[in-house]
Amino acid sequence: MRRPLVAGNWKMHGTRASVSELIDGLRLQDLPEDVEVAVMPTFVHLTSVIDAVADGAIVVGAQDCAFEPMPCALTGEVAASQLIDAGCRYVLVGHSERRQLLGETDALIVRKFAAAQGVGLIPLLCVGETLAEREAGQTLDVVMRQLRAIVDALGVAVLERAVIAYEPVWAIGTGLTATPEQAQEVHAAIRRYIAQCSAQVAQGVRILYGGSVKATGAAELFGMPDIDGGLVGGASLNADEFGAICRAA
Ligand code: G3H
Repeated sequence: MRRPLVAGNWKMHGTRASVSELIDGLRLQDLPEDVEVAVMPTFVHLTSVIDAVADGAIVVGAQDCAFEPMPCALTGEVAASQLIDAGCRYVLVGHSERRQLLGETDALIVRKFAAAQGVGLIPLLCVGETLAEREAGQTLDVVMRQLRAIVDALGVAVLERAVIAYEPVWAIGTGLTATPEQAQEVHAAIRRYIAQCSAQVAQGVRILYGGSVKATGAAELFGMPDIDGGLVGGASLNADEFGAICRAA
């Protein structure tokens, strides 16, 4: 059995005051024990959030890490080992906003993935196609290319200590959620692809859906056989909405 994971990616949002208010709101939520709940604040808010949730069930992840795992002369970056030291469990790698707006390549994402795992962080690898790629019938080609970059470079076994998030770019922040059937089709294809290398890894790896997830419709998405939870952006900034999404998983 795969334990569902719902992760809230707060992106570049929040002030000290609003983050504190959001955490207070999350602590009031009735979060299900059989679902793992994670939040991913900006770097500047990480330690205050980690301290604030230390006595509860919520775990914390970062939104990025450097390709170098250990502290070194790399201005502006944060090492995976520093994230572990701070108390993080997860780190996002390959989010489409970083691929598209910051030019992150598959090769760089492989290095970040390896850096994270090398120090014991769990990488949450994001994959997904643009609208143009979907309309050109290239969805599975794109998603498998992004996944193959990791598997070819590092081996399939690394997915035993990782999470995958399928996030169609056209669904991110647009209000256009993929239908449960559309998402399930890609999730099943990802699991089939991994099963070609290892049936055991394919069975165990959690594959989250991301892209305009809201409380309404979340249960239908999470009810699909290969969808193991969600990576939630905008809706994770509202404690009541995020709590309802967690309860739907
Ligand atoms: O990481 C989260 C995704 O980019 C989804 O964001 O829920 O605001 O569409 P969204």
